[in-house]
Amino acid sequence: MKDSKKIFSFSEENLHKAKEILKRYPKSNKRSAVMPLLHLAQEQNNNWISEEVISYVAKFLDMHEIHVYEIAHFYTMYNKKPVGKYLLQICRTTPCWLNGSREIEIACKKKLQIDIGQTTQDGKFSLVEVECLGACVSGPVMQVNNDYYENLDAKKTIALLEKLQNDT
Ligand code: FES
Repeated sequence: MKDSKKIFSFSEENLHKAKEILKRYPKSNKRSAVMPLLHLAQEQNNNWISEEVISYVAKFLDMHEIHVYEIAHFYTMYNKKPVGKYLLQICRTTPCWLNGSREIEIACKKKLQIDIGQTTQDGKFSLVEVECLGACVSGPVMQVNNDYYENLDAKKTIALLEKLQNDT
């Protein structure tokens, strides 16, 4: 899982996408593309932002590394350390909490034998708590990578985890 010494650069496909993203901004403000480029880089880099990713994106946009670092560390959607194949993000904000998000958290912890902020030994799951995912009407909600699972309860959560565990 640790690849912090690996030099990062966009794949050919992502380089093309990055150039397309840059076209959305005036040439004099290309640094405004920093967030979508960090997303693209994170996706390519096994879902986390390494120091090499920060250096690369900074160079790509002619920015100081510290500015890219600050942005990556401010927003929780950027993962600052390696995460499992499945990143489980449980919403803990009031509407989800009132609808049973704690039940989802307990089910995940028990099934995976990890705590919040940890990754399973096989590198398959990481578990984190996040603030509102913007789907409050169907809470409790858990985001797994880019997918939302809504109206969850403990039983549905366990079934989902078992399905993901059996994925190869
Ligand atoms: S409170 Fe959970 S999605 Fe908004």
